[in-house]
Amino acid sequence: MANIIDGKAVSAQVKEKIRGEVSELKEKGIEIGLAVVIVGDDPASQVYVRNKEKACELVGFNSYKYALPAETTEEELLALVDKLNNDDRVDGILVQLPLPKHLNDKIIIDNIRPDKDVDAFHPVNVGKIMIGDYSFLPCTPAGVMELIDSTGVEVAGKQCVVIGRSNIVGKPQAMLLLHRSGTVTICHSKTRNLKEICSGADILVAAVGRAKMVTSDYIKEGAVVIDVGMNRDENGKLCGDVDFEDCKEKAGYITPVPGGVGPMTIAMLMKNTLTAGKMHHGID
Ligand code: GUN
Repeated sequence: MANIIDGKAVSAQVKEKIRGEVSELKEKGIEIGLAVVIVGDDPASQVYVRNKEKACELVGFNSYKYALPAETTEEELLALVDKLNNDDRVDGILVQLPLPKHLNDKIIIDNIRPDKDVDAFHPVNVGKIMIGDYSFLPCTPAGVMELIDSTGVEVAGKQCVVIGRSNIVGKPQAMLLLHRSGTVTICHSKTRNLKEICSGADILVAAVGRAKMVTSDYIKEGAVVIDVGMNRDENGKLCGDVDFEDCKEKAGYITPVPGGVGPMTIAMLMKNTLTAGKMHHGID
């Protein structure tokens, strides 16, 4: 039986540390604020946003929520982003994705001030990640790294396989593993011999968005298996990209869904918001 990596426990430790720092800053009269913008009524996004607000409350940030109707125009959303860019109470801005179809994610993200872009989605921050200058950490991949570190398994020299090449997870994940001297392979829908490649991985990160796609024949005995997926199975139950029941005997370490990567993404968002707040107040 694999060791189950407890994302809730690791994220609680990260948030506790942030809470301590935030309370010290408050004693100096410094308050930190995160603005969260949600457009429309996607149920999953509403849950994510609520969890982000709860995390802000826990660590002691001020959170400002802007819930806009689905019909919001690009002009209106850009006007809000501009207002938040210039609002001194706001250290971090997060526009929850996906946006309704008539809005272009890229145009909106490009207009968030890079020093308030706590998602690290702006091209300036993406470029910095590429060269290993992490003003802001890419939240989900950074959370994955914390979970890998919690196992005590060293990344340097290991075969690391990332399934998925999205801008939010797959690509930045590969960079973080590479910067830690992992030997990294990125797989995607056109990859041939996916099973063979995955089964050579010491560290496997699944971020494809296909329910229970990774079965035990994809993994190496004793591997670290990190599941970024958030899907519904045939019974409508939340599940990852990894077939947990099938893989839990063979893996060395494995994350559950829920309770694995999800809580870490939010903890890393809190970390970035603290970084932004300190930057804006000239503290390093
Ligand atoms: N939608 C799904 N994950 C994320 C995330 O990390 N940030 C934002 N802004 N939207 C998301």
